[in-house]
Amino acid sequence: MLELRSLGYHPATAAAPVLEGLNLKLLTGQPALVAGRSGSGKTTLLELLSGLAEPSSGSILWNGETLKGRQRRWLCGLVFQFPERHFLGLTVGQELKLGQRRLGSERVQEVLEQVGLGALSFQQAPERLSGGQQRRLALAVQLLREPKVLLLDEPTAGLDWSVRDGVLQLIGRLSRDRVLLVVTHEPELFRGLIERGWELRDGALRPLPALRTMP
Ligand SMILES: Nc1ncnc2c1ncn2[C@@H]1O[C@H](COP(=O)(O)OP(=O)(O)OP(=O)(O)O)[C@@H](O)[C@H]1O
Ligand SMILES: [Mg+2]
Repeated sequence: MLELRSLGYHPATAAAPVLEGLNLKLLTGQPALVAGRSGSGKTTLLELLSGLAEPSSGSILWNGETLKGRQRRWLCGLVFQFPERHFLGLTVGQELKLGQRRLGSERVQEVLEQVGLGALSFQQAPERLSGGQQRRLALAVQLLREPKVLLLDEPTAGLDWSVRDGVLQLIGRLSRDRVLLVVTHEPELFRGLIERGWELRDGALRPLPALRTMP
């Protein structure tokens, strides 16, 4: 279980806190989402969780143990809002094997098939892929790291409905054996798939009653 306790983020350069007093528990097999308008702090929340930024106050725990930034970077796989900005490899093959020299080709192929990219050429340049393929590739890179926590920033943004459906089905499958948190400005798309949701507004989290199916 990943837990936030009174988490706050107030960088010196911001007039008001971006996030304040957030409490949240995320469980394996129970996908969750955080919705909020542009600028509400969704990406910032994922940066804190994944160890790319340090909270100003509060703590982040895994199974009751407080985690340092380095431990969070190891535990969490973050798929960025604009994955195309973060590709480092010149080819799909390089991108998949970044930082993992010993990765077997069979494992790579298995994960590519899992994200619906089984037919992709390893020689192709990542930036030449379509938006939906780039998102799936970024997801595959994270899945190969086998993170216990998967964080998806706007996984459906900019995708047309046919690709979007595929991404949604994939999210459903992926949430079974890991902690999964989606942040999105379009929570209604996840109805029926994700039952636990909060709205981020004015730096605070409030439960989204519409998503709840149980009392
Ligand atoms: N290090 C920082 N210094 C100053 N302000 C910051 C810092 N980090 C985040 N912010 C501010 O926090 C706010 C939230 O930004 P964030 O990118 O998390 O929003 P978001 O909900 O992901 O928006 P979008 O839906 O557009 O992606 C923004 O106003 C941003 O300027
Ligand atoms: Mg964002």
